Amino acid sequence: MQHLDDVTSLEASQVLSLLDRAFELKALDSYPKYPIVKVLSLFYEKSTRTSLSFEVAAKNLGCVFFSLCPERSSEAKGEVLIDTLSTLGAMGVDLLILRHPENHIFKTVRTVLPSSMRYINAGSGMHAHPTQALLDMMTIASYHQNFEALKIVLLGDILHSRVAASFSRLAKLLGIGELVFTGPKEWLPETVAYGRITDDVSEALDDADVVMTLRVQKERIDASNQLNLSQYHNDYCLNVDKLRLAKPNVLVMHPGPMNRGVEIESDVADGHHACILEQVENGVFLRMAVLERLIQASA
Ligand code: CP
Repeated sequence: MQHLDDVTSLEASQVLSLLDRAFELKALDSYPKYPIVKVLSLFYEKSTRTSLSFEVAAKNLGCVFFSLCPERSSEAKGEVLIDTLSTLGAMGVDLLILRHPENHIFKTVRTVLPSSMRYINAGSGMHAHPTQALLDMMTIASYHQNFEALKIVLLGDILHSRVAASFSRLAKLLGIGELVFTGPKEWLPETVAYGRITDDVSEALDDADVVMTLRVQKERIDASNQLNLSQYHNDYCLNVDKLRLAKPNVLVMHPGPMNRGVEIESDVADGHHACILEQVENGVFLRMAVLERLIQASA
């Protein structure tokens, strides 16, 4: 693995090996150190989990960690991304972690990325969020080892979700038994890489092993595609009644950030089925595993 643009950069065996390594790291009291590795994080969209999780992961591995905030960089003075990236390369940055609103930003990035610099996509437009999909799968794997037997449901604004897009590709790679995408018709895509699409929430939730709700991506929804949020709440918000349709031991997931009372009720988000904070915790170890693989690939 040279770069991680999406889960399609990986084979199933590499995914399983990354998950194994993340579980190993989670069980350790002290971690391997890579003190000469310079990691730079550059986020053109807001973030709490992904940005801090990469920072904690890099620091756990003893890397030198920098972050550059675009609003305070020379891009505010007219510099363009490719010049920013060339500048970082000239300074000897080894690993770039980039979040960007463009779907296929890596096509641009790779034209200027020095051969020695590795790239990790920390979320690109509506297209991909590979480390989120991997940490979600790690969380599922900590409860269920037989992927073929699982019914996983993603509920909400699927159309605008890079989390859903990457998860669909990863589910295909790992052979998840049944993957169902559900939500309002307006926010369902016509096709997905893997799984089926329905606007019948009750049918989707029936007998589910895992239900992952997704945030309404207001920033990506144009005026013509807005829904009435109180109607959305009535029909699609994950509440205790809807959850009763799923298996008694169903896992409730959310990639965050959550909008309580919009796509998920607090009693579900904080209830005993929820593993939302485990997703966050696992994210640190999964990202450590990814960083380690890319560092080893450069050695
Ligand atoms: N899940 C996720 O990407 O969260 P942040 O936007 O807070 O990084």
